[in-house]
Amino acid sequence: MNATVCGTALPHESAVAQVTGNATYVDDLPTLQGTLHAAPILSPVAHGRLRGVDASAALALPGVRDVVLAADIPGDPILAAFAHDEPIFASDTVQHVGQVIGLVVADDVMTARHAARLVQPDIEPLPAVLCPREAHARQSYVLPPVHVQRGDAAGMLKQAPHTLSGSFEVGGQEHFYLEGQIAYAVPQEQRQWIIYSSTQHPGEVQHWVAHALGLSNHHVRVECRRMGGGFGGKETQAGHLAVWAALAARKTGRPVKLRLDRDDDFLITGKRHPFAYDYAVGFDSQGRLLALDLTLLVNCGFSADLSGPVADRAVFHSDNAYFLEHVAIHSYRCKTHLQSFTAFRGFGGPQGVIAIETILGDVARHLGLDPLTVRLRNLYSSAPATLGLTPTGRRDTTHYQMPVEDNILEPLIQRLAETSRYPQRRQEIAAWNVDSPVIKRGLALTPVKFGISFTATLFNQAGALVHVYTDGSVMVNHGGTEMGQGLHTKVAQVVADELGVPFERVMVTASDTARVPNASATAASSGTDLNGRAAQFAARNVRQNLAAFVCGLDGCGAGEVLFRGGQVITPKATRPFTEVVGMAYANRIQLWSDGFYRTPKIHYDKTTLTGRPFYYFAYGAACTEVAIDTLTGETRVLAVDILHDVGHSINPAIDIGQIEGGFVQGMGWLTTEELVWNANGRLATHAPSTYKIPATGDVPARLKVDLWPEPNREDNVFGSKAVGEPPFMLAISVWEAIRDAVAQARGDGKPVRLDAPATPERVLRALAGI
Ligand code: MTE
Ligand code: MOS
Repeated sequence: MNATVCGTALPHESAVAQVTGNATYVDDLPTLQGTLHAAPILSPVAHGRLRGVDASAALALPGVRDVVLAADIPGDPILAAFAHDEPIFASDTVQHVGQVIGLVVADDVMTARHAARLVQPDIEPLPAVLCPREAHARQSYVLPPVHVQRGDAAGMLKQAPHTLSGSFEVGGQEHFYLEGQIAYAVPQEQRQWIIYSSTQHPGEVQHWVAHALGLSNHHVRVECRRMGGGFGGKETQAGHLAVWAALAARKTGRPVKLRLDRDDDFLITGKRHPFAYDYAVGFDSQGRLLALDLTLLVNCGFSADLSGPVADRAVFHSDNAYFLEHVAIHSYRCKTHLQSFTAFRGFGGPQGVIAIETILGDVARHLGLDPLTVRLRNLYSSAPATLGLTPTGRRDTTHYQMPVEDNILEPLIQRLAETSRYPQRRQEIAAWNVDSPVIKRGLALTPVKFGISFTATLFNQAGALVHVYTDGSVMVNHGGTEMGQGLHTKVAQVVADELGVPFERVMVTASDTARVPNASATAASSGTDLNGRAAQFAARNVRQNLAAFVCGLDGCGAGEVLFRGGQVITPKATRPFTEVVGMAYANRIQLWSDGFYRTPKIHYDKTTLTGRPFYYFAYGAACTEVAIDTLTGETRVLAVDILHDVGHSINPAIDIGQIEGGFVQGMGWLTTEELVWNANGRLATHAPSTYKIPATGDVPARLKVDLWPEPNREDNVFGSKAVGEPPFMLAISVWEAIRDAVAQARGDGKPVRLDAPATPERVLRALAGI
């Protein structure tokens, strides 16, 4: 491929449309005549027996058309989710405050919402379990526990010259996509349906709707042009909305739109999984880890949803960048009477990474060593392992038996330490703190190593269609979805280069289950890897058809034809691409094609959690300086230097945007975004007034992002690496910097006990050592 478009910092394909208000979201689609609007009826009780539903007051309201309950489901009343454990509408029992019992359908959305509040569910309350430790004590799980071990962690803990143990908790996170959850279900002829859905997974929406309606997948077509953010929150959760809207549309025989009010969205939909941790770690006087025993208590909420793979990914990332020779990890998937926690950027990875980074920070402080020194000493490397327990006998194999072949951790960290002046700033900050009794500064440099691929091997496949029209314009359709991350832009860049045409000649259209079937969710950061390759292969087929055609004209070999700058060049002639397309059409040459890609090399045994679940790793590191106010507990991120590995960037502007956005979102998770459930299990923080995401004013004054200059060592599209999720975990440097500032303020060399997010209250407690 002759890359002139890939590698260029082009604007997002929708940038102009978005800033001028021309980009349409589901709620912007013109509504069809007769469209009704739905609003959900929510459980006010965390756990209870649902004895009945009195909807008479709602139905008496002018403009109300109907109420839809579990009895109105023609197909399976259980959602077609993987674990088959989640009712579409609560019927016999309710399992969290906010669980949807049914819908009110009305002429307009405000009437529907008002009426939904008049519905009286009759619920006999039962005891509710709200915390994962309590669930664990009762052995109440949504899925069985998973244990991964290597070596003899228990034995080595006894022998280790130093040990530490502790417990801490890390909170969940609301996705806070700017566009809330929405679906618009439109009945068609002959039991066919069109669903407009703000979804990361149109294929799953199709399947779920068909299942609930008792139809086949081919009856249902799902379209999504774009989402106003998904962040994992529209991977499964969008499917619920679509199913609900479709059930209401089926019952009323009208198109139905369901757009959640933001407070309801908070109360109903799943969020990032909160985790609780218990650990015991053994180490030598150099800070080298000798043994780790780590228990992850995963708060899954009331159903499995994606908790299995999320909890697995936390296990896979509990090493982050570090070699753990003797290790035992126990993962419990706890069932609580809360929203069903779901995918969120990093998909459990951040909850694994933060555990080991927290532990290493404490080990360093315990020994009076610089945390970066301790981190460097524990990195994966090709040095021999003490006991040769790994297949290679070196410190380069993960606890799930995957060799880290593409390791660039040490040079990457060293370079960032240099460019961010880490050693000098450590001294400057220590000196500054001596003169500053109230405000204390802290510094941390933490790496990330993130595995790329869906851990469920079968999802690592993708399809695309490339159409070249007779005027030489190109349309691409692929199985991925656009949520602001720039997937469509990157895919269009790849196709433009494959055909040697300018970027403007390529248009990516809405994701549509009728065009590319059986597509995986756009998730696991693999959107471009999978769909970019599929689209590239589709474009390549068209190019080969055109090349064969011009070879026939000019009597040359296919390898001698160049597609570049909108021209098709043979040793004999240079013709505009458009002209070649026109001639080829006249000669009945196929000008469109499909493309299919599946990721090579990956395999993994999900019963033992061993194998090669990831095609490659994406790496990065961040150096963050914070200040804390020791009187109020407030924190501020002052300066951030990032060096991140995106391989050979297809679009550096988009990649840097993803790194900045991921970092700031991660910073929110660890500092201000606090989910508080009251004693009755009701989420108290269900609006921006009480749930604080970072605002522009919270973005660090200095946020410097550099890209690692080498291409992906695995054969990936354009030599690039996935970028969507890995940078989220760079924000763990904020967490460690805050803990460093607390330690410096305390000056007692003891481990810093802190739960995330590091709210002012918690920082004050950590300062007081309580
Ligand atoms: N960036 C924006 N602007 N909006 C989003 O919703 N989602 C993130 C990430 N970046 C998201 C985003 C998540 S959770 C994932 S998995 C990836 O984008 C998905 O897209 P990709 O695979 O094309 O990177
Ligand atoms: Mo991202 S959490 O894999 O949608």
